[in-house]
Amino acid sequence: MSSAIEHSDKHRGAFSSRRVFILAAIGSAVGLGNIWRFPYVAYENGGGAFIIPYLVALLTAGLPFLLLDYGLGHRYRGSAPLSFRRAHRAAEGLGWWQVGICFVIAVYYAAVIAWAARYAFFSVDKAWGDDPEAFLFGDYLQAGDPGIGLDFVTGVTVPLVLVWVAVLVIMALGVQKGIGAVSMFFIPVLFVAFIALVVVALTLDGASVGLDALFTPDWGALGETSVWIAAFGQIFFSLSVGFGIMITYASYVGRRSDMTGSGLVVGFANSGFELLAGIGVFAALGFMATAAGTGVDEVATDGLGLAFIAFPAIINEAPLGALIGVLFFGSLVVAGVTSLVSVIEVVISGVRDKFEMTRTGASMAVGVPAALISTVLLGTTTGVYVLDIIDHFINRFGILLVAVVSMLALSWAFRKTGLLREHLNRDGSVQVGTWWQWLIGIFAPAALTFILGNELINNLQEPYEGYPTWMLNTLGWGLAIAVAVLGFVAARVPWRDATFLGDPEIQAQQDERRA
Ligand code: ALA
Repeated sequence: MSSAIEHSDKHRGAFSSRRVFILAAIGSAVGLGNIWRFPYVAYENGGGAFIIPYLVALLTAGLPFLLLDYGLGHRYRGSAPLSFRRAHRAAEGLGWWQVGICFVIAVYYAAVIAWAARYAFFSVDKAWGDDPEAFLFGDYLQAGDPGIGLDFVTGVTVPLVLVWVAVLVIMALGVQKGIGAVSMFFIPVLFVAFIALVVVALTLDGASVGLDALFTPDWGALGETSVWIAAFGQIFFSLSVGFGIMITYASYVGRRSDMTGSGLVVGFANSGFELLAGIGVFAALGFMATAAGTGVDEVATDGLGLAFIAFPAIINEAPLGALIGVLFFGSLVVAGVTSLVSVIEVVISGVRDKFEMTRTGASMAVGVPAALISTVLLGTTTGVYVLDIIDHFINRFGILLVAVVSMLALSWAFRKTGLLREHLNRDGSVQVGTWWQWLIGIFAPAALTFILGNELINNLQEPYEGYPTWMLNTLGWGLAIAVAVLGFVAARVPWRDATFLGDPEIQAQQDERRA
């Protein structure tokens, strides 16, 4: 490795091996999206038949885009802004756009982890009583009318601050000693805990009723556009692509590494975990439906309802209920934290590269404002509404939009996909053919544009969940537009050291020839 590249890699931090990188990438991918989003999305969109659009989305868009992120981060050896900038002078804004999206996501993602942490403790004595729904919105979140208020809820604020303190410590410890070490320890723990949860769930009376509900295919669903939209949305969120996360993590891997093999391991581990979560959650829902004498459709609710209302109800009735609760909410916390660190690392790494800051300095410069904003917006009686709106808009008009724009830009404006394919193939155990360029340049952007167009029309025609227009215009549309605009403004700020903005691979090869 050339001395300049070696110096830069050492300064930026690196994973000690490919194995640590793979664990960290799995830690990022496996998150809240796998445990409480996937089971419900699959159930609502055709059950067993959902597997077809899901696999199509994974193979034609998710995995190809993951490889694009890996190629970009690994070849250009930088944070999202630095990698895009090294790919092309005009591309830097795309990286800052992703940085902005990650900052916004981190702010609310931390709150769900804080709730889950609190619920792990509530599980022990089933503190929610007989009516988990009334408990969640009343006793726990103390939710008032939608709006933005400053009435803090201690039960949310305290765990939220603790989550941020833990995350800031991990970030300050660095790539290997922080993110790498946490992933090496917690990802195996998460798999063991989650498998234990699934085994316990499968022994409950009525588990098979739940599995039947999940896996009985509704083939008619394949003809509905919304089912395909759900599959692509799920794959992007769940694989952590479009956030700049995988670009950042790939930049911390040794220069001569098998990135295509790593991508397949991460992609299939993520989907395997998702399937496992589907089985565990629906076995538990089958138990609850059987105990209540109703159908599974009566008890399967989405998102927050599934984790924080349906699960407490299951825990109330099930033998070993407290154990199920601690395993379920504990898994949410662990899966959530290993994803949150990856989300905030995109911001820290971008700031560090641009301003040449120390790791601790950048962690504090990014983490303290993020923690403060998170506590003020989410730690209050209106936090649940803020979360719902930001989550809905930033996932669609942030992540999916920047994904389309960056695929088109890299393919057609900057013409970099051929170079990245060669780079991936140089040391990759799986060779990527020209079909990959077609998927990235045409198929995936076309599918996502169709999805986004539909979503745009739906959201314009019907205000999301009937929230007040001013809230949707600020926290929803406003924020999604602001991160894109600010991204391109940030790209105009000069680099502290502009000497290293060339292609590091060319530099390394020149140095090797000279040596
Ligand atoms: N990929 C992460 C998740 O599934 C963001 O939650």
